[in-house]
Amino acid sequence: MKRLVGIEALAIAAPRRYVDIEDLARARGVDPAKYTAGLGAREMAVADPGEDSVALAATAAARVLRTNDVDPARIGMLVVGTETGVDHSKPVASHVQGLLKLPRGMRVFDTQHACYGGTAGLMAAVEWIASGAAAGRSALVVCSDIARYGLNTAGEPTQGAGAVALLVSEQPDLLAVDVGLNGVCSMDVYDFWRPLGRREAVVDGHYSIQCYLEALSSAYRGWRERALAHEVVRWGPSLPGEQLARVLYHVPFCKMARKAHTQLRLCDLEDVPNAPATTAEAREERAKAASSYEAQVASSLGLNARIGNVYTASLYLALAGLLHGEADTLAGQRIGLLSYGSGCAAEFYSGVVGEKAARRMAQAGVEAVMASRERISVVEYERIMNLPYEAPEPLAPAAGTFRLAEIRDHKRIYVEGAAS
Ligand code: HMG
Repeated sequence: MKRLVGIEALAIAAPRRYVDIEDLARARGVDPAKYTAGLGAREMAVADPGEDSVALAATAAARVLRTNDVDPARIGMLVVGTETGVDHSKPVASHVQGLLKLPRGMRVFDTQHACYGGTAGLMAAVEWIASGAAAGRSALVVCSDIARYGLNTAGEPTQGAGAVALLVSEQPDLLAVDVGLNGVCSMDVYDFWRPLGRREAVVDGHYSIQCYLEALSSAYRGWRERALAHEVVRWGPSLPGEQLARVLYHVPFCKMARKAHTQLRLCDLEDVPNAPATTAEAREERAKAASSYEAQVASSLGLNARIGNVYTASLYLALAGLLHGEADTLAGQRIGLLSYGSGCAAEFYSGVVGEKAARRMAQAGVEAVMASRERISVVEYERIMNLPYEAPEPLAPAAGTFRLAEIRDHKRIYVEGAAS
């Protein structure tokens, strides 16, 4: 019998502080509409050195286990997808294992490929379970990152930080993945990278958008070919992409999801069999339809607009945002997900939202995480950005969260906020 496999539950973690994006625009002498309407941003999470990718990953991972009352003995694999790890050798995942006191009998490793690393980890977990090798055990996949371009750069308003933890099992209450339908595309390009020893990413911004759209097209067409063969979608009065209830994208900034959606629609419009001849302009016009974007994409972007880019976690933040608001409506419906990582790799896959998704999302406490954050001024944000990497401020972690306390003999020491 074919196993149902996918995401059973999720939890998010966000830094305690954020800046309002309009404050940042004014401080940079930029029209705020460029950041709000032009990029689609509202707020940007600001992580201080105590909130590194280990602390954020451990906070999200502990939250998903606690709020869903998961017996750690159930977990046979712990993967952290990150491109902002804290050591060249020791994985973030091994810190998380130690901080959460998880048992030894599990595979523990990180996956890295820019923002695609989280999806690489998720698919390793999904296919491990689907193959039967997991023998009933579950996986914990955590996407955790700090997106950092630096002060006064074009990428500055697209920074952010956070983590999303996904419990993956044969009880996919949130999303049952259509195993085997995935379409993938990988290309060797220099669109965004971070040479060893650098804190800030190097990016060819406009080229990175082109690479994203090109890789999306191949990955989506790969998924569509398999989905058509399995009669999951069909050519008909509506386009194959329109037959997905929602489409989630990797969100480096919210406007990118709009560009991505136009591209996905263009792929369908260009490939419609036996279509009457149309001009490229007419196809582009139809692909851009605001109604399609509003119906299939806009409702997933609420958390992304308030946190910013979280590299590996961005797609899963969109999933959290979507299900936080619409789990009831979407139960039983199929959605599409596009993961992109610079360098580059794209993967398009689909899944069906579970009947218990609303209950699971109520446990995730997304609202409480967002409400616990503090708005700071641009001056305070700049002070935090200039703090030395290795010297965390001596702040007490909030209840249920982790923080880097100090680095002693090159070893990182973390503390957990006592439960309130
Ligand atoms: P820029 O060049 O300063 O901005 O940086 P722009 O001039 O392209 O303007 C941005 C948008 O604002 C444009 O809209 C303007 O028209 C509009 P568009 O034409 O694109 O639809 N605009 C305004 N709108 C209203 N009122 C105004 C106004 N002025 C302008 N007054 C850029 C933009 C994205 C390049 C920059 O922020 C950047 O380099 N960001 C980082 C790179 C990035 O996010 N790339 C995305 C694709 S690659 C990816 O997603 C992978 C990644 O997540 C990393 C990983 O994989 O690890 C980045």
